[in-house]
Amino acid sequence: MHFVYCLMFSLTAAHYLPPTSTSPNFRIAAAFNSDSPLSAIAQGWNLTTYHVDPGNNYVVLSNTSSRTFYNNGTADDFTSHTSQVWTDGGTPPWPQGVSVAPDKEARRGVYVTNGRATPGVEVAEWPATVYFGTGTWYVCNLTLTYGPAIALYWREKVDNTPEGCANVELQAWCLENGSGVEHPLARNSTCYQTTV
Ligand SMILES: *[C@@H]1O[C@H](CO)[C@@H](O)[C@H](O)[C@H]1NC(C)=O
Ligand SMILES: *[C@@H]1O[C@H](CO)[C@@H](O)[C@H](O)[C@H]1NC(C)=O
Ligand SMILES: *[C@@H]1O[C@H](CO)[C@@H](O)[C@H](O)[C@H]1NC(C)=O
Ligand SMILES: *[C@@H]1O[C@H](CO)[C@@H](O)[C@H](O)[C@H]1NC(C)=O
Ligand SMILES: *[C@@H]1O[C@H](CO)[C@@H](O)[C@H](O)[C@H]1NC(C)=O
Ligand SMILES: *[C@@H]1O[C@H](CO)[C@@H](O)[C@H](O)[C@H]1NC(C)=O
Repeated sequence: MHFVYCLMFSLTAAHYLPPTSTSPNFRIAAAFNSDSPLSAIAQGWNLTTYHVDPGNNYVVLSNTSSRTFYNNGTADDFTSHTSQVWTDGGTPPWPQGVSVAPDKEARRGVYVTNGRATPGVEVAEWPATVYFGTGTWYVCNLTLTYGPAIALYWREKVDNTPEGCANVELQAWCLENGSGVEHPLARNSTCYQTTV
């Protein structure tokens, strides 16, 4: 008991994380664990979307807006780790899913797309991070139609992060409110709790 307490205490002291709670709805924030030009700019920025073409958006980091996400799936989906992360977009709100580009592309971009989501993009039970398989999220500068952006990518664990890009952890942060749309298959996710 004493040993467990000491271990937990030292882990917490070494790498402080806020307390967790659960909520069906969460925002996703970027947490960089190493120094890089991108981490110096975008530590703590939220995931939002950048319009590409109808019904399809890049997932980018932003310090001016954020999207509300939820983890959706049947009990079987959660057991087999094939649940998905969704968000509502458009007017009226419409389900859009988080998709990781298939590996035929040089860099596997991450998108939010109408009616489609990659099974296995999920929130961990602990810590409150969004993961996909055993791979790693990273971000890179990307110049888009309306200007520069910091775009999200995913790679296999064995692959290298491209030069100029930075690995990032995606943290789920609890939100009280969703979009107001019912999500019958949304599940309570572990998420960090903002302390006041
Ligand atoms: C957002 O980040 C940019 C680039 O670092 C900075 O110029 C801008 O002031 C920031 N805006 C806000 C609202 O923090
Ligand atoms: C991320 O979103 C939260 C909740 O809306 C907000 O309080 C926070 O300021 C945002 N962070 C940045 C860097 O914009
Ligand atoms: C939620 O999960 C179910 C079961 O896998 C799936 O049929 C549905 O398309 C998912 N997305 C939404 C928005 O309901
Ligand atoms: C990415 O863009 C930021 C802001 O425009 C810039 O400061 C930084 O040098 C760029 N990083 C790389 C690797 O191009
Ligand atoms: C949730 O939404 C309701 C209605 O829009 C609003 O009154 C309330 O302040 C919101 N609560 C939070 C924690 O954002
Ligand atoms: C989430 O948990 C709360 C508190 O335990 C519960 O009231 C609520 O029904 C749960 N929601 C879902 C979608 O499971």
